[in-house]
Amino acid sequence: MMTRLLITGAAGSLGGYAREGLKDCAQILRLSDVAELSPAGKGEEVVRCDLAEREAVDELVRDCDAILHLGAISAEAEFDALLQANILGTYNLYEAARRAGVSRILFASTNHVTGFHPVGERLDHLSPRRPDSLYGVSKCFGEDLSRLYFDKYGLETACLRIGSCFAEPTNRRMLSTWLSPGDFRTLIRQLLAASEIGHLVLYGVSANRDVWWSNAHADFLGWRPQDSSEAYRPAIEAREEEPAKGVRYQGGRHAALKLSD
Ligand code: NAI
Repeated sequence: MMTRLLITGAAGSLGGYAREGLKDCAQILRLSDVAELSPAGKGEEVVRCDLAEREAVDELVRDCDAILHLGAISAEAEFDALLQANILGTYNLYEAARRAGVSRILFASTNHVTGFHPVGERLDHLSPRRPDSLYGVSKCFGEDLSRLYFDKYGLETACLRIGSCFAEPTNRRMLSTWLSPGDFRTLIRQLLAASEIGHLVLYGVSANRDVWWSNAHADFLGWRPQDSSEAYRPAIEAREEEPAKGVRYQGGRHAALKLSD
């Protein structure tokens, strides 16, 4: 078992799922966020840190074996805010990780890096990126940065293009994109346990009927999502007309938003 796993963005919703479900993946979970976190429990350390502050990030990463990098602005936002949290923050994290000798980072990318592909088109890790938002572009930066750090320094990364990770799917789009919290946790566990991942790009999505994304190249991980959105379909279809607004593109609402003036 590794000694210390750092989780950034630990005060967020996926951070909560990770804090609760990954306790036995490391002797110590170092939980960090710019927002306040509840006090450290057994086997936990809590560190308040803004990822945009380089020296603080250097300190944060020290003595960590691996990182689950969730900390970010997690939806479309003003460019300057994305620049600080998602672009500068991710750069600071990778640079600190390289210097500290961290061997593996699980980077929370997003399906919005390919959100301008039409609904129904089947994508995989080799499909061209078509970001649907400045948010998506900021995650493309993280994917490319992680590739650079793997090619140059051998720092392994899994770029998880997460679909919609919530307790339940709540609209038609999520019938395709839903990732259950349970499947999220097993994916993270497999990625931490695998002996080698290199630089891996994969989609985080449950075993839904109409998935748009293939992870066939990542079969070696042995990750088999257990949950499906199908049980929620009747209720969602009954309350949401078809075609639902904004679902022409895979990115849904993000693809439909205007960039701010
Ligand atoms: P969230 O918004 O609930 O959590 C993100 C956390 O990052 C927040 O607690 C926030 O305070 C923290 N954060 C923001 N800026 C920071 C900074 N400068 N320094 C340190 N921490 C900072 O988002 P959620 O849903 O937990 O998502 C986690 C990650 O997964 C994000 O990177 C998001 O982009 C990605 N993701 C999530 C999806 C989902 O379905 N929940 C879908 C696709 C991607």
